Order: sequence, then C-alpha cells, then structure tokens
Amino acid sequence: MSTSSLLTPVRLGALQLKNRVVMAPLTRLRAAQPGDVPKPMHAVYYGQRANPGGLLITEATDIAESARGYPGAPGMYSAPQVAAWKRVTEAVHAKGGLIVVQLWHTGRISHSSMHAGGALPVAPSAIAARGQHMTAQGKPVSFEVPRALSLEEIPTIVAQYTQAIKNAREAGFDGVELHAANGYLINQFMEDGTNQRTDRYGGSIENRVRLLLEIIDSAAAAWSADRIGVRLSPGGSFNDMKDSNHEALYDYVVTHLSTRGLAYLHVIEQRESPDTPAGTATSDVAAKIRAEFAGPVIAAGGFDQVSATAAIDAKHADAVAFGRAYIANPDLVERFRVGAALNPYDRRTFYGGDERGYTDYPTLEASASTT
Ligand SMILES: Cc1cc2nc3c(=O)[nH]c(=O)nc-3n(C[C@H](O)[C@H](O)[C@H](O)COP(=O)(O)O)c2cc1C
Repeated sequence: MSTSSLLTPVRLGALQLKNRVVMAPLTRLRAAQPGDVPKPMHAVYYGQRANPGGLLITEATDIAESARGYPGAPGMYSAPQVAAWKRVTEAVHAKGGLIVVQLWHTGRISHSSMHAGGALPVAPSAIAARGQHMTAQGKPVSFEVPRALSLEEIPTIVAQYTQAIKNAREAGFDGVELHAANGYLINQFMEDGTNQRTDRYGGSIENRVRLLLEIIDSAAAAWSADRIGVRLSPGGSFNDMKDSNHEALYDYVVTHLSTRGLAYLHVIEQRESPDTPAGTATSDVAAKIRAEFAGPVIAAGGFDQVSATAAIDAKHADAVAFGRAYIANPDLVERFRVGAALNPYDRRTFYGGDERGYTDYPTLEASASTT
C-alpha cells in the first residue's frame, strides 16, 4: 500500500484540491470577548496550517447571537466578525490554501447566561440534554430544559443561516460547511430523541429532515450548492443524541442530499472516547455513505496517515479530515509527504487561552533549526 493517494488531487464541488488531507473543524474558544470576534492570532493559526491546494475547515462558528453555546466561539453575524474573518481567509489564500467556515447553531447545547436577557436556549422540543455544560462565566452546571421553537420562528433560523452564508462569502471564504452533526440544532431536529414536535418539522423522518433541506436550499440560492458541505454523525451519541432508527434516517438524508449538487458530505466515524488513539479508525460509516451519496465524501475520526490512505484506496472516502493531529502539526501535509513523526497534542490547551498550544506548535523546519 502506498501513502501517496492522500497527496493526489481531488475535486469537491467547486473546490479543486491538490491533496486529500483536510483540516477538521476544531473549536478552540479563543475569540475576543465580548463580541466573539476572531483575533489576529486566528489568522496566524489558520495561515500556519494552510498549504497550496489544501482545504481547511474552521472551528464551528455561530450564525447568530441566539445560536451561541460556548464562550469564546466566534460568530459570523456582525461586521467586526466578518472583517476579522477576512484577515483569516487572506492569510490562508496567501499560501494558496482553501478555507470553508463551519456554521452552527448550538440549540439546546447552550446556557441562558449566554443569551440576551438570560433567555433559555432554543431547541426543537423542551428536552434537556443529560450532563453538564458551561455557563458564560465558565461554571459547570446541569443542562437547562430548552425552549421549544414555535413554528413561526423556524423561518428565522433559516434566514439566519442564509445571512451567515452571505457574510462568509463576503469574508472571502471558499465555501461553508453546515454543522448537522454532534447534537447541535440541525442534528437535534433530525433525531427523534430530541425532536418530539407534532408539526411539519417533527414526527416522520421527512419532517425531521425538513429544516436541514430548507437551510441547504436557501443557502444554495444565496451562494452556490457546490460551495456547501454538510457534516453528519450517523449513529453518534455525543451530546446525548439518540434516534430510534438511524439507518432509515441517514438513508433518507443521504438520498435527499444527493439531489442537491453539494460540494461534499463530511462523515464522522464513531470512536470509543475523545482520546481514542489515531490509527484505530475504520471507514465503515463513510464507506456506507459514499456508496449511497452522489458526490464526494470526507471521512473523519481517528485516522492516521496509514488508515486514511487505506480509506482512500478502498474508495471509502474521497478525502480524510484530521482533527487532533492538525492542532499539533501546522505542517501536517508536509509531514505526511516526507513521512516525518508528528508532534503530540496537548489536550490542556485545546479550549480557551492564548497563543500557547495554538500558534506555537513547531513545524519540521522550526524543529530542525532549534536542534
Ligand atoms: C478540540 C476539538 C474541537 C472540536 N471542535 C469541533 C467543531 O467545532 N466542529 C465539529 O464538527 N467537530 C469538532 N471536533 C471533532 C473533530 O472535527 C474530529 O471529528 C475529531 O477530533 C476526530 O478526529 P481526529 O481523530 O482526527 O481528532 C472537535 C474535536 C476536538 C478534539
């Protein structure tokens, strides 16, 4: 088996890539407060990870103030945020890289301390996630019971996504990724453990997937379907998610997304725990979806260079996204090219803080000059 197929070109909709190594979306919680504005160090961080013809996906980014769920996550709804993102896209484009922004609404994975007037988080139904979340002040508390969105409010959610997509385009992004994975708002609508609505957005699979499809159709009209990717986590239980028949649900989702001419589907393989070592991944979930989806598939979750190459060679995926490895290795593609060892990641600096654990992981070149 050769390791070279990871470094061959691939086309994801309008995105023409020179390699199949993608930076996974990675929340780092370092945006300036108040305002959720990316800092100059965000441009440094993404610029360091850019490579000619390579694709970066940003950290999840709020579509609106009411979408916030984590203090320090950036937004895509204010003029200062758009201006700051412009500096990020310029830094990536200066190195010949491509960058799409992952857009999210956290739904019930939030806390009232993060919303104007202490308003409760919103969700498809008034069902609290089991477990704990952080307040705006960083205090761990049990999840609150969210407020169920009224039928009349749902067009506002679609409009907020559409505006965020227009803002992303203005900020110079090459596309957007809709976060329909990991138990956030779109995913909460999709699965019946979190959606018990009795209107046209709940009940049947068709009704539960309606919000996702409406957002995609509105986004495609506002920009272009071949610049929109969608991230899914079939069978995932993160953020207390469950569905009574996820096979049927995801078959429906993939069938209907196939007709939209999207840039890609991005699929998360399920891992045992957040620290499951890289290289233990299978590409089973991606393989199933790639067989059904009329378009390119990115696989993610627990891959290393060998297992990623195997997934590409077996045609289980068209590209592979790397998360933890990309945090610690700004020159990940170059390391794959030359077969170099990877820097280990430090989980303590994943979320929040300053440049430490963010822009100070060394490249091969930097390591060579200091040894
Ligand atoms: C620090 C951290 C932040 C993450 N943030 C996001 C996120 O914002 N959006 C998302 O879809 N997934 C997020 N993930 C999941 C990653 O994109 C990826 O699926 C996961 O790390 C597994 O891939 P890996 O084994 O290559 O790390 C995050 C993971 C980590 C470790």
